[in-house]
Amino acid sequence: MVEKTLSATNFSADQQIVDKRTGKTFSLNEFLSRKASISQFSRKFLLEVAGELADPKQASEDFEVWDLIKTYGNPYDVQTFCDRLMPLLPRLYSIASSPKMFPDEIHLVVAEFEYETLGEARSGICTRYLCEIAPLNEPAIPIYVHPHKGFTTPKEPSTPIILVGPGTGVAPFRGFMQERYLQNAKNNWLFFGEWTHTKEFFYQKEWENYVQQGFLKLDTAFSRDQPEKVYVQNRLIEKGAEVMTWLENGAIFYVCGDAKHMARDVDDALHQIIQDHSTHHPGEYVKAMKSAGRYLKDVY
Ligand SMILES: Cc1cc2nc3c(=O)[nH]c(=O)nc-3n(C[C@H](O)[C@H](O)[C@H](O)COP(=O)(O)OP(=O)(O)OC[C@H]3O[C@@H](n4cnc5c(N)ncnc54)[C@H](O)[C@@H]3O)c2cc1C
Ligand SMILES: NC(=O)c1ccc[n+]([C@@H]2O[C@H](COP(=O)([O-])OP(=O)(O)OC[C@H]3O[C@@H](n4cnc5c(N)ncnc54)[C@H](OP(=O)(O)O)[C@@H]3O)[C@@H](O)[C@H]2O)c1
Repeated sequence: MVEKTLSATNFSADQQIVDKRTGKTFSLNEFLSRKASISQFSRKFLLEVAGELADPKQASEDFEVWDLIKTYGNPYDVQTFCDRLMPLLPRLYSIASSPKMFPDEIHLVVAEFEYETLGEARSGICTRYLCEIAPLNEPAIPIYVHPHKGFTTPKEPSTPIILVGPGTGVAPFRGFMQERYLQNAKNNWLFFGEWTHTKEFFYQKEWENYVQQGFLKLDTAFSRDQPEKVYVQNRLIEKGAEVMTWLENGAIFYVCGDAKHMARDVDDALHQIIQDHSTHHPGEYVKAMKSAGRYLKDVY
């Protein structure tokens, strides 16, 4: 993408520029590689490069910096171009391992973003870097820890937990299970969903091992293994009576993963389960779960 951006702008890679945010000098190549967002751009940038467009929101979704410039031309000198780019922001990833089991490592579950707009294959900046480009066993990636207060295993190992984590949402629950295993905590129920059983059943062996040892109850929903979609919320509803029993026994209900559709659909399923399998008012029951810290979400 840096090469495409250099080629579209006609700037040379070794030109020196100043990062307006820090006052530091970089080669253009270094700045585009490490400091600037060259996929997403601001409305001001869009307006200055492309002028008034009928649908600026769509253009923001479709273009990256390089093909916006390639299509509409480059109105900038090199420093102004750099000044206009947004900063490259950090990406957050859930830690998928317990520090008690892996004290010197953190494990991540990263789904590479790949999609197509305007006939061009695109990929996520950070996921592509992590999955395809980052050198192995070299400290090349600056990281920091962003704690998520409250989204953690219960204080009491005897408290049952229900974990709903399709896709990359399963990441923190692998850490949870390692922690629970070390605590000899046995009431754990995981709902996992992905595309196919053969290709995307992340950590299959580990889950099956916990199941065999009596540490885990596991339900899976592979959405693309049959003509009709099957999702984690379908499994929750199928097992509704038992889910309700776990909730009545004080289980904490955790949800992690996609915020846009999944978390809302799982929330609907939870309401439906309470409606169908108890005499409680679903809205009030869920509200009480939330205020007791028994309905926890980490969704993005
Ligand atoms: C608290 C938290 C925890 C997270 N945990 C994880 C985790 O454990 N594992 C994980 O993999 N991710 C996780 N994420 C998501 C992660 O932070 C990144 O957002 C994600 O990996 C994408 O980063 P990227 O740099 O590869 O993509 P970017 O370069 O940022 O590109 C993503 C952008 O591409 C565009 N895009 C994507 N698909 C399309 C499409 N089909 N059509 C048009 N445009 C599209 C959208 O604008 C989207 O915002 C988490 C996020 C949060 C907030
Ligand atoms: N093998 C792969 O290359 C692969 C696999 C999964 C994801 N991805 C990509 O990785 C990125 C992020 O992935 P992710 O980990 O966050 O996975 P995700 O896209 O959230 O998908 C995880 C699972 O959730 C399902 N799902 C879709 N809508 C749902 C809903 N409303 N309720 C419940 N479940 C729902 C998906 O099914 P459907 O997608 O079948 O509807 C899939 O089985 C996306 O760009 C995605 O396209 C790639």
